[in-house]
Amino acid sequence: MKNRRSHEWFGRKDKSGFIARSWLKNQGLPNDVFDGRPVIGICNSWSELTPCNAHLRDLAEHVKKGVLEAGGIAFEFPVMSLGEALMKPTTMLFRNLASMDVEESLRGNPLDGVVILANCDKTTPACLMGAASVDIPTIVVSGGPMLNGKHQGQDIGSGTDLWKFSEDLRAQVISQAEFDETENSMSRSPGACNTMGTASTIACMVEALGLSLPGSAAIPAVDANRRRVARLSGRRIVELVEQDIKLSDILTRQAFENAIIVNAAIGGSTNFILHLLAIAGRIGVSLTLEEFDNLSQHIPLLANLKPSGNYLMEDFYYAGGVPAVVKQLIHKLHSGVIQINGHTLENNYRGSKIYNKYVIRPFNDPLQGNAGTVVLKGNLCPDGAVIKPSAATPELLNHKAKAYVFENIEQYNLEINDPELPVDKNTILVLKGAGPKGYPGMPEVGNFGLPKVILDQGIRDMIRISDGRMSGTAFGTIVLHVCPESSVGGPLAFVQTGDVIELSIETRCLTLHISDEELYHRKKNWTAVLPYFPRGYVNMYMNTVQQANLGADLDFLVGKSGYHIDREPH
Ligand code: FES
Ligand code: MG
Repeated sequence: MKNRRSHEWFGRKDKSGFIARSWLKNQGLPNDVFDGRPVIGICNSWSELTPCNAHLRDLAEHVKKGVLEAGGIAFEFPVMSLGEALMKPTTMLFRNLASMDVEESLRGNPLDGVVILANCDKTTPACLMGAASVDIPTIVVSGGPMLNGKHQGQDIGSGTDLWKFSEDLRAQVISQAEFDETENSMSRSPGACNTMGTASTIACMVEALGLSLPGSAAIPAVDANRRRVARLSGRRIVELVEQDIKLSDILTRQAFENAIIVNAAIGGSTNFILHLLAIAGRIGVSLTLEEFDNLSQHIPLLANLKPSGNYLMEDFYYAGGVPAVVKQLIHKLHSGVIQINGHTLENNYRGSKIYNKYVIRPFNDPLQGNAGTVVLKGNLCPDGAVIKPSAATPELLNHKAKAYVFENIEQYNLEINDPELPVDKNTILVLKGAGPKGYPGMPEVGNFGLPKVILDQGIRDMIRISDGRMSGTAFGTIVLHVCPESSVGGPLAFVQTGDVIELSIETRCLTLHISDEELYHRKKNWTAVLPYFPRGYVNMYMNTVQQANLGADLDFLVGKSGYHIDREPH
């Protein structure tokens, strides 16, 4: 019998071994499954309340088949699921909580390896963060995107087109009836948002990190190839256990750098930054916000996908998916890294091709020359802020104008449809109180809609600045993740309507044009008004959450505790 982790449960002849085996046998397990074969957990974030993950129960069956075929035994278990479409106030408030569920479920149970089944935005990072703090062999199977939305002969994309329709409705360009009609056209199959929103971004991130089988990220949820990937992943995790290839063997510094470069080329979500920082913090790879900018500078935008471009994930898959993009970037990547299937990146992707040049462009003929997320610094964001130029209006990327300030989301909701709101198309809109502590949870309100007076002029973009996040499906000239956040006394707190703000992508600066003395004076007269939660998880979150430039993890969760447990339960 091999000296596996599960052996400490099942390989004993005493009372503890009896308990471990006997109770499991109520599921009909024969004696020989406890002969020392790899025990695989299938960590399933399935939930009917997370529509993007609702098909993961089916996918788990295919993982199980693969595990059995390879000579392992699989146990599927549920973990907290986080559905973007339903959860209030924001799933981001609970990402770290879900990660704790995953971590302790893995550590406390007799598992030699784990297959993570996740899809909707936060579910994948939460599972990976938890797994990283345990560090056993791990493979990720994402659930895949929905089929393209189809409406009146047009393709429509999750989120992205909703934000458009919603602004058109407010400007009375379309009627309520037309708006309602699109509801049945957008989400046509199981799967995650079909744009390059956060879920697809993270699926691509996981593939670029080398943690899922090559070519799997973009396979539509309902394509039989996704079941095949699940089955092959089930087989592969058994080998990973036998070869003792742990998560940290794949999640190297080089793998993180690869993921950042690929993310720039696909026009991935800004949420990518928060999640990758948090995962790096757990596994123990040092990564800073500035490196996202440094590494992705001069990486061109190759994927023509909404919200930065025109197409959807189904098109991306048919055009070659992540493999086609990686092949184009291979000279920029660490091509010698070992990926989850045991081969190098070079080996896995060197034969990949582009099958549709409208959807995926070659490196020397890109959609944009410089696509990576830009990290801003300046007296308005001493610890950084981010902007995604590929989804912005080019003319606004270097812009100086007066600010109009919303002190919180309530003031915004109250005023945004006011026909007298004193703003014009050049005004820079500022929203405070949307950071990790201020909301709390750092919601996706950074892409807050434009004032009705501006929409009525036919204008669809203005500079917006906040300490919140935006949906990965959103677009616009939007400065996000301003650090430190306003609610803890970051300079954003002191901005007043009428102040002049300057955004300069060229110099990567976000500047509040007031004197240092004035800033000091305003700071002196300022008191924090943080939301108060006397009990429960949110209380713990408020006391321990880190700022966005560190990934917004809870401070005591950074790092790992490994997989050893000394004491017995009985
Ligand atoms: Fe789940 Fe977009 S709402 S992936
Ligand atoms: Mg989202």
